[in-house]
Amino acid sequence: MSRRILVTSALPYANGSIHLGHLVEYLQTDIWVRFQKSRGHEVYYVCADDAHGTAIMLKAEQMGITPEQLIEQVSQEHQRDFSGFHIEFDQYHSTHSEENRYFASLIYERNRDGGHIATRPVRQFFDPERQLFLADRFIKGQCPKCGSADQYGDSCESCGATYTPTDLKSPYSTISGATPVMRESLHYFFKLPDFRDMLEAWTRSGHLQTEVANKLSEWFQSGLAEWDISRDAPYFGFEIPQAPGKYFYVWLDAPIGYMASFQALCSRTPGLAFEEFWAPDSKTELYHFIGKDIVYFHALFWPAMLHGADFRLPNGVFAHGFLTVNGTKMSKSRGTFIKAGTYLEHLDPQYLRYYFAAKLVSGVEDLDLNLDDFVARVNADLVGKVVNIASRCAGFIQRHFNHRLVPVSHSLLTRCIDAGDSIAEHYEHRDFARALREIMALADLINQYIDEQKPWALAKVSPEDPRIAEICSLGLEAFRQLMTYLAPVLPRMAQQVQEFLNLKDLHWESRLQAMGAHTLRPFLPLLQRVDPEQVQAMVKASKEDLVTPPAKAPESVESLASIEPLQPLLDIDSFLKVDLRVARIVEADRVEGADRLLRLRLDIGGGEHRQVFAGIRAAYEQPEQLVGKLTVMVANLAPRKMKFGISEGMVLAAGPGGNELYLLAPDAGAKPGMRIR
Ligand code: MSP
Ligand code: ZN
Repeated sequence: MSRRILVTSALPYANGSIHLGHLVEYLQTDIWVRFQKSRGHEVYYVCADDAHGTAIMLKAEQMGITPEQLIEQVSQEHQRDFSGFHIEFDQYHSTHSEENRYFASLIYERNRDGGHIATRPVRQFFDPERQLFLADRFIKGQCPKCGSADQYGDSCESCGATYTPTDLKSPYSTISGATPVMRESLHYFFKLPDFRDMLEAWTRSGHLQTEVANKLSEWFQSGLAEWDISRDAPYFGFEIPQAPGKYFYVWLDAPIGYMASFQALCSRTPGLAFEEFWAPDSKTELYHFIGKDIVYFHALFWPAMLHGADFRLPNGVFAHGFLTVNGTKMSKSRGTFIKAGTYLEHLDPQYLRYYFAAKLVSGVEDLDLNLDDFVARVNADLVGKVVNIASRCAGFIQRHFNHRLVPVSHSLLTRCIDAGDSIAEHYEHRDFARALREIMALADLINQYIDEQKPWALAKVSPEDPRIAEICSLGLEAFRQLMTYLAPVLPRMAQQVQEFLNLKDLHWESRLQAMGAHTLRPFLPLLQRVDPEQVQAMVKASKEDLVTPPAKAPESVESLASIEPLQPLLDIDSFLKVDLRVARIVEADRVEGADRLLRLRLDIGGGEHRQVFAGIRAAYEQPEQLVGKLTVMVANLAPRKMKFGISEGMVLAAGPGGNELYLLAPDAGAKPGMRIR
């Protein structure tokens, strides 16, 4: 009985790169979708970029481009990264699309006409310089309790006090630095409490993981509040129908992006009907994969909005935990904040697909990528167990039996085939860890069988001994079973194996038909071992991502100089530890293979020279012009080994980055080596 299933992953924000944390989700979903497709179901996997909101508007402005240009660039990058990891969407769309405007308006209007929208004035901080209302995270000031400077509007990092932005002393806008003023404006609210009964029933009837449902019960107990869904211009988003100057808050139209993306797929797929998947009486299945941080939006607001607009509700919302690397939060300075693109420059995506799958369970617990364990596990399981079976058997069949398998029957093969049901069960429940444990246990049995039968020993006596053909045929029949089970995780390798085994496909049910007397194609290597040095190189490159400023520069420096918040107070002794010196630039060259760096040779007096790699190339397109100039350097910074050589210090430059960087220089008369005091 074939099921019709629509699956989504959360829509990544269009203002940043995909990193390994995101990939937990996209890989989890992709594997589940591929599994369902392998089982013969009709499955559609849709996603999109989440393109609206203040952050994207400000980022585009900083880069001196339009939000449309920014989201286009980011969309390209995201899609490149996803396909690099073999994540295959049936549709990848954008929330900034006509389909999304249509459904956002429709859902809003139906809820409004149903009486579920309220309006009332809200008093909020306003940036008089930039002429925009400030979300709490754009306001900083002094803690009302302990007086610490530069604290956010909700809580103090220094003493732990919590408060509201209006409690801050000397508040300032982190966008312009201006002192915000209070201003009132009319806001639109979604009346979530109207849906309380429906939501309580829905959240308790098996659509959510137990721990998520329990969390929701707590939220119900503390009461549901109306949800502010409007933002004032300027805002990058959709204007609310019949409310000029008011825009949908990004989180209102974000989940509607799932529908928009599916609509786009329907528009180009003959016979695929939107209503069949979204009508209230739909017989199809709808599942959302999300991170645990966005449960509130998906388990409360989203079903309520859908219900209020007469659409169907999801069958399941599946939350996963967060990624840690080497046991702690991903960290830029440790090089463990690894972007998808950086990973792909160093390692095969299948390693990560396998490793994440081996750790993914159905609950919301966090998942750790331990880099040593990653190397050990992938090499032991994938290369040492799975690939090993094929490479041990293929050679004999190829060399001495003219690529022909012989029919075999053996309890080991039956066992592999029978295991398919429980492995499928584990995939279905997103317990990939368990599915893979079972698959690896089978791999162990097969290897054990080959070890016992020792075809290589038989071959020494007589390479054409028919027993060798039997042993190796059994090995490859069993290997084919394993690859059927692993195909959702390792689609690329499955493809190669399918070609080698000369099969039409590796669908779940097709495995029931043994290969029998069957001719194989030549065997080609399937997967290399993970090279730990490549892992190190990836970590190192992730650290370098940090020192290189953004490629594009902002248009207006004035408004930006003040964006950067002031740093915490420093005592004079700490400051004096920094050995700042006047330096003369004696050489300045571009660095091959690093388009943001210049290599500087600096004379710091007393005959001493230093080599420094500085991320200032975009600002100094003609490095020659720097030669002979005086600047200021940090002379006692620990040397840092980079891909291109050792950097023995740092030069000082001001500005937001990219081509807006200005090297500091002393007044005339200063000499190389003079210390700054
Ligand atoms: N744009 C929203 C989602 C809107 S859905 C209608 C958003 N975007 S995000 O880019 O911040 O995150 C996208 C998904 O990746 C979310 O489900 C989020 O939980 C997940 N992850 C982001 N960082 C993560 C980790 N470090 N670890 C695991 N998942 C993570 O939220
Ligand atoms: Zn404080």
